[in-house]
Amino acid sequence: MEYITLANGVKMPLLGYGVYQVDPAECERCVTDAIAVGYRSIDTAQAYHNEEGVGNAVRKSGLPREDFFLTTKVWISNGGYEKAKASIDESLAKLQTDYIDLLLIHQPFNDYYGTWRAMEEAYKAGKLRAIGVSNFYPDRLIDLCQFSEIKPMVNQVETHALFQQAAAHEVMAKYGVVHESWGPFAEGRKDFFTNPTLQAIGAKYGKSVAQTALRFLIQSDVVVIPKSTHKERMVENLDVFDFQLSQEDMVAIRALDDGQSAFFSHYDPATVEFLTSLGR
Ligand SMILES: NC(=O)c1ccc[n+]([C@@H]2O[C@H](COP(=O)([O-])OP(=O)(O)OC[C@H]3O[C@@H](n4cnc5c(N)ncnc54)[C@H](OP(=O)(O)O)[C@@H]3O)[C@@H](O)[C@H]2O)c1
Repeated sequence: MEYITLANGVKMPLLGYGVYQVDPAECERCVTDAIAVGYRSIDTAQAYHNEEGVGNAVRKSGLPREDFFLTTKVWISNGGYEKAKASIDESLAKLQTDYIDLLLIHQPFNDYYGTWRAMEEAYKAGKLRAIGVSNFYPDRLIDLCQFSEIKPMVNQVETHALFQQAAAHEVMAKYGVVHESWGPFAEGRKDFFTNPTLQAIGAKYGKSVAQTALRFLIQSDVVVIPKSTHKERMVENLDVFDFQLSQEDMVAIRALDDGQSAFFSHYDPATVEFLTSLGR
């Protein structure tokens, strides 16, 4: 595994396993498979309702806790100091651990300054090794960086070969925030897995579209957390450290960016209404 160093010196694996839309009943099996094939970084969230499954798999693996890098996220409904503080303890209990490696604010809504203060406090108390945000576009990220005591160390945003977030990446780099991708395959939208450019470039290295897409992000200093419920795909997605895309191929993949989210924009009032309604 290769690592990226966060602003506080903590080393984060460049590749992990995401469990969004993994059924809570299946999560323990999936994470157990992921651990068996070599994943040690796992990305979950309160809103995925599968933190227990992650905690069970990690505990039952018998491996030392320090071998793992566990990420979870505070949901909108737990926004604000008091609720966020209680929810951190709840996540620790569900994950069956004394500390979380990385806690993120899931969405830039509700009282996220209060949430951030609870996270700063838990970080200082040793319950969290690193803290960050998710879905914070440059405007909100800069605001939080300017007015918080501890700056976010990571920002997890939709990022893939067809929506690369290059401008947002520059802002993150300026503030020392590590860029983490969610949806590294756009969940298969935009005909991702049959993209002719990704297919042709991958073929040169004997790699699949999925592997080529992950490698492109890693070489762009973006952390990836691909999700699959299939063990053979977990193996495939982890097998991206034995090749290097040439400069020419990186440039060709950069040209695939159409600047359009495959999902939604956090600037769109209808999206904001929908997401905030989920957190009320
Ligand atoms: N912070 C946020 O708001 C946010 C939002 C979304 C996601 N995330 C995080 O990011 C992680 C990854 O994103 P995601 O799950 O949305 O989508 P993704 O990783 O882009 O795509 C997952 C989809 O691709 C398929 N797939 C995986 N590997 C494949 C391969 N090698 N070949 C062909 N198909 C493959 C999976 O199918 P199978 O499972 O059937 O194999 C699944 O349908 C999530 O699990 C979650 O941890 C965070």
